[in-house]
Amino acid sequence: MRNLTEQQHVVTRAARERLNGHPGKVIWFTGLSGAGKSTLANALEVALHAKGYRTYLLDGDNVRLGLNQDLGFSDADRAENIRRIAQVSHLMLDAGLVVITAFISPFRRERDMARALVGPHDFVEVFVDTPLEVCEQRDPKGLYRLARAGKITQMTGLDSAYEPPLQAELTVHTNQASVEHIVASLLDVMAGKA
Ligand code: ADX
Repeated sequence: MRNLTEQQHVVTRAARERLNGHPGKVIWFTGLSGAGKSTLANALEVALHAKGYRTYLLDGDNVRLGLNQDLGFSDADRAENIRRIAQVSHLMLDAGLVVITAFISPFRRERDMARALVGPHDFVEVFVDTPLEVCEQRDPKGLYRLARAGKITQMTGLDSAYEPPLQAELTVHTNQASVEHIVASLLDVMAGKA
């Protein structure tokens, strides 16, 4: 209808992966603001980089400052935010990279859409299951305080929903296990999906 035809490239994902020496993957972190997604995503990237993996980290605030600067925090905008990130992740997977995403990604529907787009074999969903009370106590960006004072609205966990994953590949507890321990578990799960 729109006269679009998908083009087959000569250099394939498989060829790029051979050159890289490892398969591409999408490691998808989800959890509340302040749960520890960025910390874990960074630590995982450092560990993978040290092992010679080609990686790229897509992070909530950074992507919202650029590609998604037109989006706010309504349910519809969050859904569009995640739809675009899923598409970008899919392209980067095709580029042969290990893509690490760190977005609240509060809705099951969009996370499931990302899983289906990327392909279940290449998708590792990681639920950073930090209780709201702990996130609120950490409050690294002062957002919970602002939300409690009524200065911002649509704060995830307060007046905007978070739907926990039902079947994440891994659930981690940042208030119980060390970052090093969690990264080791992540590497194990990734090895199982190689
Ligand atoms: S998502 O819900 O669309 O996945 P995303 O991860 O991109 O969210 O952005 C979350 C980041 O935006 C938070 O880490 C925080 O820094 C900032 N932020 C600003 N306002 C809000 C809000 N109302 N709710 C959640 N995060 C917010």
